[in-house]
Parts: sequence; C-alpha cells; structure tokens
Amino acid sequence: MAWVWRLLFIFMMLWTVCQSHLHFAPSSRETSAAAAASNKTVKTGIAAEVAGYTDVAKRIIDLAVFGAARNRSYTRLADFTDTIGTRVSGSNNLDMGIKYMYNAMVKDGLDVHLEPVKIPHWVRGKESAQMLLPRTKSLAVLGLGSSVGTPPEGIKAEVLVVQSFEELKQRASEATGKIVVFNQPFVSYGKTVAYRAFGASEAAKVGAVATLIRSITPFSINSPHTGWQNYQDGVRRIPTACITVEDAELMWRIAQRGQQIVVQLNMEAKTLPDVGSFNTVAEIRGWQHPNQVVVLSGHLDSWDVGQGAMDDGGGAMISWEALSLIKDLGLHPRRTLRTILWTAEEQGGVGAQQYFSLHKGNMSNFDLVMESDLGTFTPVALQFTGSDAARKVMEEVVKLLAPINVTKLEDNGEGTDISPWMKVGVPGASLHTADSRYFWFHHSEGDTMSVQDPGDMDLCSAAWAVVAYVVADLQDMLPR
Ligand SMILES: *[C@@H]1O[C@H](CO)[C@@H](O)[C@H](O)[C@H]1NC(C)=O
Ligand SMILES: *[C@@H]1O[C@H](CO)[C@@H](O)[C@H](O)[C@H]1NC(C)=O
Ligand SMILES: *[C@@H]1O[C@H](CO)[C@@H](O)[C@H](O)[C@H]1NC(C)=O
Ligand SMILES: *[C@@H]1O[C@H](CO)[C@@H](O)[C@H](O)[C@H]1NC(C)=O
Ligand SMILES: [Zn+2]
Repeated sequence: MAWVWRLLFIFMMLWTVCQSHLHFAPSSRETSAAAAASNKTVKTGIAAEVAGYTDVAKRIIDLAVFGAARNRSYTRLADFTDTIGTRVSGSNNLDMGIKYMYNAMVKDGLDVHLEPVKIPHWVRGKESAQMLLPRTKSLAVLGLGSSVGTPPEGIKAEVLVVQSFEELKQRASEATGKIVVFNQPFVSYGKTVAYRAFGASEAAKVGAVATLIRSITPFSINSPHTGWQNYQDGVRRIPTACITVEDAELMWRIAQRGQQIVVQLNMEAKTLPDVGSFNTVAEIRGWQHPNQVVVLSGHLDSWDVGQGAMDDGGGAMISWEALSLIKDLGLHPRRTLRTILWTAEEQGGVGAQQYFSLHKGNMSNFDLVMESDLGTFTPVALQFTGSDAARKVMEEVVKLLAPINVTKLEDNGEGTDISPWMKVGVPGASLHTADSRYFWFHHSEGDTMSVQDPGDMDLCSAAWAVVAYVVADLQDMLPR
C-alpha cells in the first residue's frame, strides 16, 4: 500500500468521524474501508447503525481466518471427536462428550452450565443381513433408531421390492409375511426421508414382517445410512434397517427378472428406559440487557457410526468458537450471547423441545436463535426466518460478511432445534454452506474428520460470530 493512499485514508477517516460522530478504529483494508466509510455518512437509521460495525466485523474475521484463531475450531473438533468418538443418545460416549465440552468451555473462560433432560436410550446390538436366494450375498445394514430387534433366530423371509408407497399399496396382497425392500429413488432429503421415517409402519399395515430401506443419499460406495424412524401408534412394530443404494438396486433388478429373493435378517436392537442427559450452555453475559439473548447452537449427540464430525460436531464447534473469538477480542455485547449444545437432536430434537418448554415463558427476551446443522463447509449465505422488518436489519448485517464473500440473505432459517422458537415468531437463522456432499456422509461410517476442512470451519466461525455479536449489540432487538 503506497503511503499516499494511507494518508488519504487517514484524512477520510478523520473527516467521517467529524461528520458522523461515529467512532471506529482504522483497519488493515484501507481502500474498501474508506469507500464504505464515505458511504456510511449518507446512510441513515439501521443501515448506518449496522455499518458502524464494519470494523469490528473485520477484526473478528481477521482473527478467525488469518490470525491466532486460524484452524482452531477444526483442531478443537478433531481433538473432541478423536477422543470421544460417536455420541448416540443414551450412550456413555454422549455423557463423556458433554463432560468434555463442559470442561473445555469452562477452561476457555466462558460462563457454562448444564440443563438436565431425559432422553431415549436405543441400542443397536449386533445386526446382519444376508441374501440367501437367488444367491448368497451379505448385505451391509444399519438398523434404524427406535427399531425393534428380530427374534434371536432372526427373520428369514421372501422379499417384495417396491419403488414407492403407491406401489406398496397396489401390491399390498403380495406383502403378507414378506420382508419389504423399499428401492425409492432419491429426490431430496426432505422428500425421500419419508421412506426411512414411515416405511416400517406402512409395510406392517399390509402384513410385512420386516423392512429394508434404501439409504437416503444421492451417492453411495456401498454405505448404509441410519437415522430415526417412527412407529405409528396401533400398528405392529416390525424390525427396520437401511441397506445400501447398490443392494436395493440389485434386489430390484433381480425381482424385475421374476426371480425369488430370500433374505435372512438378524437384529438385536432394543429400547431401554430413558436416561438423564444435559443441554450444555455457555454464555457471554450482556452488559446492558443480560436477560435478552442471542442463541448460537449445534447438537452434541450424533449417530453411533463414523465420528459425528460433520453431523453435528462442526455446528457445535463453531457455536463455541464464535464465543471464543468475541471473548478473545475483549468484546462485550449489550445482550447475552448463549451457545447451546443440544442433546438428543437425532431422536427428534428431544433436548431442544425440553429447553423450549422450560424457557418459553421468556420468549419475548429471545432476540435471535441460530443453528448450524447442515455441515460446516464453505459458507455461501445466511438463511433467515423473521418479519420483513427483521429481514431489513439482517440484510444489513450480512453485508458485514463481505470480506468472506457471504453477503446473501436467504429465506427459511432452519434447524430441528430452533424450530419451536421460530414457530412462535422468534427470528431464526442458519448457515447455508456448500453442502452438496452433506448427504453422502450423513448418518454413515463416512461422517469423520476427513470430511472437515479447517479453512471452511474458520469462515463458518467468523460468519457465526459476526452475526451473533452484531445482533446482540444493536440498540434494539430484532423486530418481530
Ligand atoms: C456505496 O453505496 C452504493 C449505493 O448504495 C453502493 O452501490 C456501493 O457498492 C457502496 N460502496 C461501498 C464501498 O460500500
Ligand atoms: C491450518 O491448516 C492448514 C490445512 O491443514 C495448514 O496448511 C496451515 O498450515 C494451518 N495453519 C495454521 C496457522 O495452523
Ligand atoms: C427468565 O428471565 C428472567 C429474567 O428476566 C430470569 O430471572 C429467569 O431465570 C428466566 N427464566 C428462564 C427459565 O430462563
Ligand atoms: C472472496 O472472493 C474474492 C474474489 O473472488 C477472492 O479473491 C477472495 O479470496 C475470497 N475471500 C475468501 C475469504 O474466500
Ligand atoms: Zn444433525
């Protein structure tokens, strides 16, 4: 940077300060800051107020992406998941994971506490599946969460392969006594997951003895993907597991040739009584309105395969990292920043539901609820649910993320854990990342640290920290 520009920059900064009486410190990106500063003098109201955070946003971004905190959220996640491993609801590992995070956040200097929750305790046990006819082939399976097991000798039955619920209805008379294999094509996670969630009860209604469901993924290297499933009340509970895309397609092709398929399925799965667990809460207290909160969150539990690094170790870590960044810079927001690491999200947002019922009396004090549970890949946009007036504010806030190229505000903030708050009108935000590979790894042995990238996690942490800090520090809460 030539000294002439430095001088010009300093001159413009002084001029701006005189004009607006807003104070901000010079940054390292002189020209763009100067241009933005000259723009700021003509901005009014909320745009001007938010633009006043341009500099602090840059300091947060610099620390996370280029400074001393570089790679920190990745390193923390690697240490956590390599040490603890998977953290399925009800497991000893989940308990250890909660203790680990509690201690780590206390050591980091945050204000940490645990809130008790009762959570489901389903155990997989041993499981296996084998095609016996028309030839012997072992099938990779993962039982689905909440599934019952088979009798000890297993279930040996002929297979009916269908591609949809419609086809199952049309061929209902063929289903009695059979193992129904669903070979539904992948459309989108949101649509196709219905087969995992409701396949067992739909098959049981037409007399099936078990179901094997094609994994909900657009891509597979013979990987089964587990997940939660729901038995419908009053319908017989039959064992249900997912199989790979490859094996589902194989059995479909064999069935199309009119050949008989027989499968042997053995599952020890069972549900034990609920156990005690905790939502883990860490805070930086607001100096002016400590009772008003901005929530940052991810879930600490995972499935019992892989490492639970992507789902949702990454979301949990950036929600901690955001507070670390703000604390390291000595920033004190007006309102409280509250990081919540939910328990038992995979069982249907159990920890978050309980949190909502305990705290909904203070609903009017919840400024913004944020959740990252779609992977911590390269961030591309912030997703937001809230009133038009709140959206206007958030549109200004995301402009502060220009240095990391995340300036888009999209519709539909999402997350199982924040949805109860959004339903009652609390503004909600989530991180849209370059997640095209998310469902390749989701709920499978492939969900490991190898999916994570330190640079991407830095960008996610920076975005998370800037949005949370600025919203928590504005004069007013987001309009409802
Ligand atoms: C200044 O404001 C104008 C009009 O709103 C906008 O097009 C331009 O990108 C802004 N420049 C900077 C550096 O913020
Ligand atoms: C951060 O991680 C990247 C990728 O592993 C590595 O190349 C870089 O040296 C690391 N930087 C620091 C400061 O640790
Ligand atoms: C609700 O907010 C009040 C302060 O306004 C606080 O004392 C109380 O602990 C909060 N209750 C819950 C359940 O968060
Ligand atoms: C933002 O985009 C610009 C232009 O494509 C690129 O040079 C820069 O490296 C990007 N910044 C980050 C943090 O990705
Ligand atoms: Zn998740």
